Amino acid sequence: MLAVEDLVAAYGRIEVLHGVSLRVEPGEIVAIVGANGAGKTTLMKTIAGVHPAASGRIRFADRDVTRLPAHRRVSLGVSLVPEGRQVFAPLSVADNLALGAFRAHGAGPAAADGRRAMEALFPILAERRRQPAGSLSGGQQQMLAIARAMMARPRLLLLDEPSMGLAPTVTRDIFRALADWHRETGLTVLIVEQNVAAALDLASRCYVLETGRVVAEGRSEDLRADPAIQRAFLGV
Ligand SMILES: Nc1ncnc2c1ncn2[C@@H]1O[C@H](COP(=O)(O)OP(=O)(O)OP(=O)(O)O)[C@@H](O)[C@H]1O
Ligand SMILES: [Mg+2]
Repeated sequence: MLAVEDLVAAYGRIEVLHGVSLRVEPGEIVAIVGANGAGKTTLMKTIAGVHPAASGRIRFADRDVTRLPAHRRVSLGVSLVPEGRQVFAPLSVADNLALGAFRAHGAGPAAADGRRAMEALFPILAERRRQPAGSLSGGQQQMLAIARAMMARPRLLLLDEPSMGLAPTVTRDIFRALADWHRETGLTVLIVEQNVAAALDLASRCYVLETGRVVAEGRSEDLRADPAIQRAFLGV
């Protein structure tokens, strides 16, 4: 589904990804973990096309998308849930969802189906349909950000730190919804998470990013048992 090959990305002259390679197979949930500043968000933005690749290649569903603008990647099936949620605060919940569907099917009946599916997954979004997104709680905004990305009917969902700033119970609800959706639809997911325990529970495989390089990768169960991972990320 996704193949990132030797990806380099920079801000001005400062290189922050130094040749990252990773793969995500169809139907997989894959996690990326790493310390603050490791380059996780930059990697997600570069895969989504909102930050340019300096060199290397990004292939999605057997197409080279490295130079495609973000909106074209959305049309092909890549949706990003950005770090910090970035909902459109003054707009209603319903309008945020409608904007998510814009590239996929405009405002037609398919968009209404999508909205109903997302309201079934996150019932609070139905209750708060007319409310400005900015007035929602952090957890509700995260649900909205995920639902908005899903409205584009992605084949690959990119999730950047969905648990950021949320209480453990809210994080658990969101991860449970993601796991349910994955079980029902087989959606392919690439997730960045600081909550490494939760990420390893959700994902079947995981990459560890350190200062712009992949330093470890493996099946979640193997990483969970790895003393170095336990010391660095799991508080063991
Ligand atoms: N817009 C920017 N301009 C300049 N440098 C940036 C910019 N965004 C990020 N960086 C730098 O790039 C490096 C990687 O940042 P990035 O946000 O990708 O890391 P991260 O792993 O997502 O961190 P966090 O866990 O804090 O979200 C950091 O050194 C950061 O300071
Ligand atoms: Mg980040």
